[in-house]
Amino acid sequence: MTIKTATHNGVATIEIARPEKKNALTVDMYQAMADAINAAREDKAVRALLITGQPGIFTSGNDLEDFMKRGRETSGGDPMDTPVIRFMLALIDCDKPVVAAVTGAAVGIGTTMLLHCDLVYVSDEARLAMPFVGLGLVPEFASSLLVPQLMGQRRSAEKILLAEPFTGETAVECGIANAVIPAGEVVHHARRVAERFNALPPAAVREAKRLLRAPMREQIVNTIRTETTTFAARLKSPEAMEAFQAFFQKRKPDFSKF
Ligand code: COA
Repeated sequence: MTIKTATHNGVATIEIARPEKKNALTVDMYQAMADAINAAREDKAVRALLITGQPGIFTSGNDLEDFMKRGRETSGGDPMDTPVIRFMLALIDCDKPVVAAVTGAAVGIGTTMLLHCDLVYVSDEARLAMPFVGLGLVPEFASSLLVPQLMGQRRSAEKILLAEPFTGETAVECGIANAVIPAGEVVHHARRVAERFNALPPAAVREAKRLLRAPMREQIVNTIRTETTTFAARLKSPEAMEAFQAFFQKRKPDFSKF
């Protein structure tokens, strides 16, 4: 089981549970998360969603073996018709509040998915990172739009062009997270916050969330489309292949030949 789901006291929890691979997300896991979000949306008993990981690791982002496989594929299917995009659209279109408990490292989509959650609590041991460029890739999940909006071009250049990791405290300063919580308490804290929606009128919460998100929705989806075209091409690039191979060979990538 790599994605665990459970609904309790009005909160649908989606728990990323693949600790042996640092919660790296496979195609099947994206589909399971998309299905879980859509099911929670339909379930009248659910007032809020909680996305969480394992102690010390939220997610190490996309499974790099899956990236390598996609990079080697010769048939060019529609890059928008994939489980990862279905997960992105499910999260963007979820009209119930989504709370994230970032239990540890949040790499790649581990950080960019937070841009689409409503309330984000980060463990004091968490490290966030958007290492796309270092992998020969480009930003995804509308991060090329939303990160500069949140933190400006200068800090975006540090986080995206230089791919510098950053702490939970910086995530709060930048507007990505609400608060830093001690590691042992972050899931409990996020759950308590999610449960607060049980006392609020659900239709008003949903309509308010729609209004908060509506002005940016089209731009976000268009940005994802543009990013995805470039991202799919970059997956096939020799730069990306060198980066993926270097990761699995546990060495530094060598981009000097490009
Ligand atoms: N995809 C596939 N496998 C991954 C993975 C990923 N994104 N992240 C970690 N793993 C695997 C490792 O290959 C290793 O497998 P092994 O035990 O079979 O050798 C195992 O998970 C443990 O990872 P390791 O790197 O040894 O753990 P760590 O605690 O030293 O470091 C991270 C944790 C998250 C910092 C590090 O694993 C990492 O940087 N992962 C890649 C992140 C990434 O680039 N993601 C893509 C973003 S677009």
